[in-house]
Amino acid sequence: MGIPKIHPPITNASGPLSVTEEELHALGRSGAGAVVTKSMTHCPREGNPEPRLAPRINHDVGSINSMGLNNLGYKRYAELVPALKQHGKPVIASVSYAPCGHDLPLEEQYLVIAQALEEAGADMLEINLSTPNLTGIPIATDPENVRRVMEPLKRAIRIPMSVKMPPYNNSLALFEEVASLLVELEVDAVVTMNSEPNALDIDLKTRTKLIRPRGGYGGLGGPAILPIALGEVHRFYRYFRDRGAEIPVWGCGGIATPEDAVKHFLAGASAVQVGTALLWEGPGIFERLWGGVERWLREHGFSSVEEIIGTVRDA
Ligand code: DHB
Repeated sequence: MGIPKIHPPITNASGPLSVTEEELHALGRSGAGAVVTKSMTHCPREGNPEPRLAPRINHDVGSINSMGLNNLGYKRYAELVPALKQHGKPVIASVSYAPCGHDLPLEEQYLVIAQALEEAGADMLEINLSTPNLTGIPIATDPENVRRVMEPLKRAIRIPMSVKMPPYNNSLALFEEVASLLVELEVDAVVTMNSEPNALDIDLKTRTKLIRPRGGYGGLGGPAILPIALGEVHRFYRYFRDRGAEIPVWGCGGIATPEDAVKHFLAGASAVQVGTALLWEGPGIFERLWGGVERWLREHGFSSVEEIIGTVRDA
């Protein structure tokens, strides 16, 4: 099954403003090309103790979070899918896992959730292999774990599945290993990247860490990570292109202006996701970004995003 058409090719990133029923319907009514849910787990979760989100850090370079997978639990999201689909755009369910009062192994938690959301009518699944805030070590840093999660899903699930990846900028050998595995597993799309893990910021007035969980360390999102995300997008894009693998790359990381989105498209993204800036601006941001992207395309002699995907030139 092909992946659903995302138009405009700009959606929310899983997490910000995508936890509750109200938030998800607000995304449905917005100018976003799809609705992506918060990563859901087997059990409902309250998440980490507050303060767990610093929405706007140091000269507005980004946000730091350690939310701890606060979510309604997959059963509730499955119930919400039919109403969310009425907005007439794809509903993408982000699937994750967390230890939760029983010993269902990791891969079975993913499978149970994925089957329930497919059954409920979700158009696509985003398999989150990169949540940094439970242990600090995302699944996707271990190729064996990626295989362990994805093989049963590939066997059982018929709707398209993307995988949400962590940054690999400090481990290019690991990148090659995981990217080749994703080709072998025939994933339907790659979403890169999740937040830059293990970041810290400090309030100088009080000499206090900005967030409490995990010793104050959390995932960095927002403008600070744009160049890292562009590197991730381009690396995956080239890897797949050079091997003739037709796996779309969706860019996520640091988009706050239309020009940021255009850079993602030039680097190889065929759709983009917005996290921190959505938190700052609310769901009205999608119309602003898409309007600006369309203007940029027109002013540069293009008539569609497709014409510029991956066309960045060497210096
Ligand atoms: C959380 C953060 C993430 O970056 C993610 O991918 C999933 C969950 C969180 O802390 O809730």
